Amino acid sequence: MNRFAVISGPSSSNLAETIAYLLQLPVVDVKADVFPDGETRVRLMGKVDAPNCILVQSMYPPVDRHLFQGLLLARKLGLEGHRIHCVIPYLPYARQDRAFLETDAVSVELVAHLLKMAGISDVTTVDIHSSVAASLFAIPLHNLSAVRIMADFILKKRDVTQPLVVSPDFGGSARAKEFAGIVGAENFAFEKHRDRHTGEIVVEEMAVPVSGRDAVIVDDIISTGGSVVKAAEMLVKAGAKRVFAMCTHPLLVGNALEKILSAGVTEVIGTNSIPSPVSSVDLAPLIAEHLKKSLSLP
Ligand code: R5P
Repeated sequence: MNRFAVISGPSSSNLAETIAYLLQLPVVDVKADVFPDGETRVRLMGKVDAPNCILVQSMYPPVDRHLFQGLLLARKLGLEGHRIHCVIPYLPYARQDRAFLETDAVSVELVAHLLKMAGISDVTTVDIHSSVAASLFAIPLHNLSAVRIMADFILKKRDVTQPLVVSPDFGGSARAKEFAGIVGAENFAFEKHRDRHTGEIVVEEMAVPVSGRDAVIVDDIISTGGSVVKAAEMLVKAGAKRVFAMCTHPLLVGNALEKILSAGVTEVIGTNSIPSPVSSVDLAPLIAEHLKKSLSLP
C-alpha cells in the first residue's frame, strides 16, 4: 500500500496528473455532476488505498461550484479516515479579506473555516492575495510564490532583455521588485485606487521611464483586466516598445483578454492555477517540490 494518493479534483485534473507523475504517486479520478436543480455531486472513481491524500482542486470560477466540490471530496475522504492535504492553487475570496464597508461580510474567513470543518489538515496555495487572508486560517497554510518561475519563463522563453517590471498598484510593488531582481531589471509601481461602491479604477498620472523599452506588468490576479488595461495604456503612452502582462491567476473574466490586447498588450501570460488560453507557466514542479519536502516524500 502507498502512503499517499493524489485525488484529481474536477477543476484541476491536468495539474493533479502532472503532480502525481512527478511524485510517482497513484491518482484517483473524480466524476462531478450537476443535478437538474443545480445541486453538486462528486464521486470517487476508485478506492483510495493510502492513509494520506493530496487533494488537488483549484477554486476558480464558477468559484462556489469548485469550492463545494472540494468540500464534498474532503468530507468524503475524512469520513473514510484519510488525512487530507489540500492543494488549492487559486484560493478564492482572498480579496474579500476585510470589511471594506462596515456592512461587508468577510468571505475568506468563512472559506478558511469551511475547509477546516470539512476535515482538511493543511492547505497549499500559490500567491494568496493578501497576508490578512492567510492569517484567517486556523489550519496550516503553505503559500508558495510563483514569482521565480514566472520570471524564469519570460527570461528563457521570450526575447525580453532588461525590461521595466511594473506593478499596476502599490500593493504589488514588492512582487515587481522581486521579479525585477531575478530578471536583472528596474521596477516601477503605479498608484491605483478603486471605488469601493462602483469598482471603478483610477490610476494616477505618473512619469514612467519606459520609452523605447519593453515593459512586463506583473500581478497576482487578472480578473476583469481593468488594472492591467489602465497600466498598459499608461505604458504605451509613455513610449513602451512592447508590453507583456504576467499573472499567477488568469481569471480573465468575460472579455478581459480582448480588452487587454486592445489596450496594446503584446501577450498575456499566466500560470495553470486556472486553465486558460494563456496558462503557459506550469505550477506542477513548484507544487510537487514543496509537497516532497513538507510531506517527506521520497
Ligand atoms: C488587486 O489588488 C489585485 O492585485 C489585482 O490587481 C486585481 O485584483 C485585478 O483585478 P482586475 O483585473 O479586475 O482589475
